Amino acid sequence: MNRETIEQRLAAVALPGHDEDLVAAGRVSEIEIDGGEVTVVLALDGFDREARHAIEDAVLAALEGQEGVDDVLIEVELESMPEPPPADDGVTMYGGGGGGGGGGSKPAVKPPKNALSEVRHLIAVASGKGGVGKSTVAVNLALALKARGARVGLCDLDIYGPSVPTQMGVAKAKPGVSASQKRFVPVEAYGVSVMSIGFLVDDDTPVIWRGPIVSSVVKQFLEDVEWGALDYLVIDMPPGTGDAQLTLSQSAPLTGAIIVTTPSELALIDAVKGLQMFRKVDTPVLGLVENMSHYICESCGHESHPFNTGGTERVSAQFEVGMLGHIPIDHAIQRGGDEGRPVMATAADSPQGKGFDAVAAAVIEKCPFQAEEGKKKGFLANLFKR
Ligand SMILES: Nc1ncnc2c1ncn2[C@@H]1O[C@H](COP(=O)(O)OP(=O)(O)OP(=O)(O)O)[C@@H](O)[C@H]1O
Ligand SMILES: [Mg+2]
Repeated sequence: MNRETIEQRLAAVALPGHDEDLVAAGRVSEIEIDGGEVTVVLALDGFDREARHAIEDAVLAALEGQEGVDDVLIEVELESMPEPPPADDGVTMYGGGGGGGGGGSKPAVKPPKNALSEVRHLIAVASGKGGVGKSTVAVNLALALKARGARVGLCDLDIYGPSVPTQMGVAKAKPGVSASQKRFVPVEAYGVSVMSIGFLVDDDTPVIWRGPIVSSVVKQFLEDVEWGALDYLVIDMPPGTGDAQLTLSQSAPLTGAIIVTTPSELALIDAVKGLQMFRKVDTPVLGLVENMSHYICESCGHESHPFNTGGTERVSAQFEVGMLGHIPIDHAIQRGGDEGRPVMATAADSPQGKGFDAVAAAVIEKCPFQAEEGKKKGFLANLFKR
């Protein structure tokens, strides 16, 4: 099997609604052959989810089982954001705020001009290095803020590997679409309004986003969601400090950023890069969270430090950025993420939960919100003053 024979096979794949075949229509961007493994990159902009699936199936059928082909991988390249799913009867109406709600057939309320206009604080959770626990911190921080009485949204902007849907236990959910405007209505999980790019792309087909498209997709994505009134919108950022992350930080009206690191020197070096990136675009860095910082013995509660200590504090002092908290390394945190039952939702009073709650308390101190209860009290107090 060589490139030519693969192209010939792909030329037999029809495109739904088009006269041309897949190859003639220029929809095959790349073919990679690595031994028996064939990777086909398809450019499928303009096709809806159903059509994309039909094309992927046809490509698999055309190549699988061919002599010399052991495995076929398909990647889809998108230049623009996938279209919202069509609004149906059960779709949540605009005005979700605390996470959808509403529903039914009442006419939609007139939406505000800007989907972010009623969001008080946009907080990015970032890191230089991948895999340090950004998503875990973002998810549990969102729940900890919620537990403290705030109205919270969680937006997963990790276009490379969105993991919030899994961690929040809504991997199979699909966002609704507001009836009045073509905006997504977030999925609600644990009382938090959740939106993820992972809801829009197919689970089993990796998506490659062309570089310059990343920032526009992200910007459009944030603004195309009906966030409603929120005290905090926690944003889970993709790893890295490249152009994509830089433009992303510039395009979102961030209140501030939280940098997650582990005690490892390599993670700290990248954390500093992250910190500098935010400073470059004049986004305040709210502070550092040291994840996997210590281990608490399950039976005796003894705290030990299997990794380096003091590195995060050193960075904190050197770059004059505060410490927001330390999160232990713990099996329950990892299992909670994998199973979609975050530790803050199941064991908020555990030492692990308290670690996340301390981060939430530090965030609230820097970016205060007025709880509904507080507002009412304030309102009454004002009345009495008069
Ligand atoms: N404190 C912790 N204790 C134990 N496991 C943890 C902890 N924090 C994160 N993990 C686990 O480490 C893995 C990576 O975490 P997570 O996905 O949150 O990192 P990330 O920085 O968002 O990664 P990426 O850069 O790929 O987006 C996950 O399996 C998660 O459950
Ligand atoms: Mg992540």
